[in-house]
Amino acid sequence: MSDSDTTEAEATAAQPLAGRRALVTGATSGIGRACAQRLAADGATVVVNHREHSADDADELVAELEAAGGRAIALVADVSDEAAVRKMFVDAAEQVGVIDLLVNNAGVEEQVELMDMSLDQWHTVIETNLTGPFLCSREAARGMVEAGVPGVIVNITSVHERIPWPGFSHYCASKGGLKLMSQTLARELATKGIRVVQVAPGAIVTPINKDVLEDEEKHAELIAQVPMARIGEAPEIAAAVSWMASDQASYVTGETLFVDGGMQLYPGVT
Ligand code: BGC
Repeated sequence: MSDSDTTEAEATAAQPLAGRRALVTGATSGIGRACAQRLAADGATVVVNHREHSADDADELVAELEAAGGRAIALVADVSDEAAVRKMFVDAAEQVGVIDLLVNNAGVEEQVELMDMSLDQWHTVIETNLTGPFLCSREAARGMVEAGVPGVIVNITSVHERIPWPGFSHYCASKGGLKLMSQTLARELATKGIRVVQVAPGAIVTPINKDVLEDEEKHAELIAQVPMARIGEAPEIAAAVSWMASDQASYVTGETLFVDGGMQLYPGVT
């Protein structure tokens, strides 16, 4: 091994995503924010997708990523709005180049049992969690294939791509659906140089489950379902996303990486 090989190997290890152009949906908080931070630190240029009401948070995050030596821009789009998603991918291509790493992270959840669930409540969850990844994956794949660049789509599912969860039938339908959509796209896109993978978080400290984490009893009940007996942190998910997106995972497609402290192993929950 020559000195230049060593230097190149070291550079790849330090910045495994150097030269990549990533778009993270719902990137202003929780797991999305941690992904944007990690991908930028690992060398990717990052498009911070956000909703209109989070424009200030997106600008702050872009400034933070750039101050840390990364490259980032913010682009607004509701992921369930076809025209807005198309525009976002056109703008991204113009401003940073063709997106070759998409992280479908944006997601919502709300506890409501079947008999009380309105059609609107059902649609809200399905549109953000499932239609959003469909629209973004379609634009991302079109862009990569047209430009002839290889790429990766990482779908953030959940332990609930597998574990039924009373009170969250719309959420479970969206995550189970996302898993099978993701695996189907993995097959469709495999020969086009595009890998499609799932990262499935368990219980993670994020704004989405703030109420549960602030309630002592509910917090304890949640921890009791985790073999590792702790709630995960968003950077632990981001590390898995970065690895799945990197060339280290070059022969992995259609696979789910559970990052859940063993939650999906809990007896009786599958
Ligand atoms: C949900 C969390 C929940 C976890 C484990 C995640 O998909 O977003 O609210 O704590 O699953 O049930």
